[in-house]
Amino acid sequence: MSQADDHAGNRRDFLYYATAGAGAVAAGAAFWPLVNQMNPSADVLALSSIRVDVGGLEPGTQLTVKWLGKPVFIRRRTEAEIAEAKDTDVSALPDPIAQNANLAGDAQATDANRALDETGEWLVMIGVCTHLGCVPLGDAGDFGGWFCPCHGSHYDTAGRIRKGPAPRNLDVPVAEFLDETTIKLG
Ligand code: FES
Repeated sequence: MSQADDHAGNRRDFLYYATAGAGAVAAGAAFWPLVNQMNPSADVLALSSIRVDVGGLEPGTQLTVKWLGKPVFIRRRTEAEIAEAKDTDVSALPDPIAQNANLAGDAQATDANRALDETGEWLVMIGVCTHLGCVPLGDAGDFGGWFCPCHGSHYDTAGRIRKGPAPRNLDVPVAEFLDETTIKLG
């Protein structure tokens, strides 16, 4: 990545962060236009990799950033959320596959295979319902994770589909920690 790209990414990160702080990214059931995913514009392509400062996130809160035209949820989970996700029997899940772009396609949907770090505190997911593309609500639903009100899909605290029409767990994008407070997407 060039220095210019770095600067562009930082500016963009700040914008999203500030917006999230104002509560404006509390996404409703807005339909996420498919065209956004199909025709990335030049500036979107230039930001195929972005850095997000997560230093201000407290446990039990999440940040939504826009990446490659899609919302990405970055959640810092509480101990209770992690414990609940780890206690879930993977064989009983509607979708037993991790859906994690960082892992092999057949990796199981254990919590360890979904979380970003070894402690399980951080979870990064594409915030697009796998049914028909709405943006699910956080801290909602029957399983304490995310809820898509468009047709009633309930995701658990690891973003795994548990009830409703969505066929797959929320997708985990390519992501990594660059340092203690910076996550790189892409
Ligand atoms: S789009 Fe989410 S349940 Fe249909």
